[in-house]
Amino acid sequence: MNQNRRQRRPPINRERRRQRPPVNRKRIQRQQSRKRYLILTAGIVLVLCIVAIASVIYLRRTNPKSTQPATANPPDSKKATTTPNTLLVNSTHPLPNDYHPDDLVNLYTQEDRHFSLMSADIQVSKPVFTAMNKMFSAATQDGVKGFVITSGYRTRKEQKQLYRTTANGTAAKPGESEHETGLAFDVGAKEYTDFDQSPQFEWISKHCADYGFILRYPKDREDVTGYPFEPWHYRYVGKKAAKAITGKGITLEQYHEEQNNQKEVSTSILVCHPATGEGRVKPDQRSSKSSTTTESYCHYSCQRGNG
Ligand code: DAL
Ligand code: ZN
Repeated sequence: MNQNRRQRRPPINRERRRQRPPVNRKRIQRQQSRKRYLILTAGIVLVLCIVAIASVIYLRRTNPKSTQPATANPPDSKKATTTPNTLLVNSTHPLPNDYHPDDLVNLYTQEDRHFSLMSADIQVSKPVFTAMNKMFSAATQDGVKGFVITSGYRTRKEQKQLYRTTANGTAAKPGESEHETGLAFDVGAKEYTDFDQSPQFEWISKHCADYGFILRYPKDREDVTGYPFEPWHYRYVGKKAAKAITGKGITLEQYHEEQNNQKEVSTSILVCHPATGEGRVKPDQRSSKSSTTTESYCHYSCQRGNG
């Protein structure tokens, strides 16, 4: 009986196949060609993606700036700014709201460092790193080691937080701190709580000007700088200005005054455009007889290296 059933089925199937409309073959051909088209398109997209990824990898390898870790130059919507070395930043010369240095480097990632770090996220401007590393290398050669960098570049937000939590008057208001320029760093010494009692302080006070740095807030100058003695805070101003300032025992404020009394354009301050808030550099003319107008201000990125 089973055998009979099996014998009967084939003729039915053959019949069904015969009954299929001839148009099905065309549809199958169309489906197959669509499939081929989709595979081809996917292949082209894949090749384009591979080419794009390879290009990005190649560009990152050939452009060292783009290989910096995120902390070295954090993404920021603010305008990138190259800072003049002798830029005056204080309560009467605040930074513009759009200010952000464009040449920060993460100290932790720098090779052949001759100093230690309090944390792995400290940044300064690249020329500042070069100068400070030479300075600390010279200190090491003189047998003075154990310098620890405790702070460098600070964002406006970080300065705001510090200002809010520091009660002794040593923190600048947000927008008024040199730390926001990438040109200043704070340093301590291993095994010393009071840096000004350490051999490291003795060495750096004596030699920092040779490398372009000044002790920015010296003893008994609070009336000029606005801050009490900060033995730990060093500011890069370039060798010429540093030697002049340290040699005469004056402050950066007084250096600006002197320069402006001597000639028209020698030092720089930042000003904010009254309408746009955009930062610009102009010569500091508070005590100068110069008649430079708003139109002649130079965008601060063109003022690099004046000291
Ligand atoms: N301690 C210095 C003044 C600053 O906060 O920038
Ligand atoms: Zn400081």
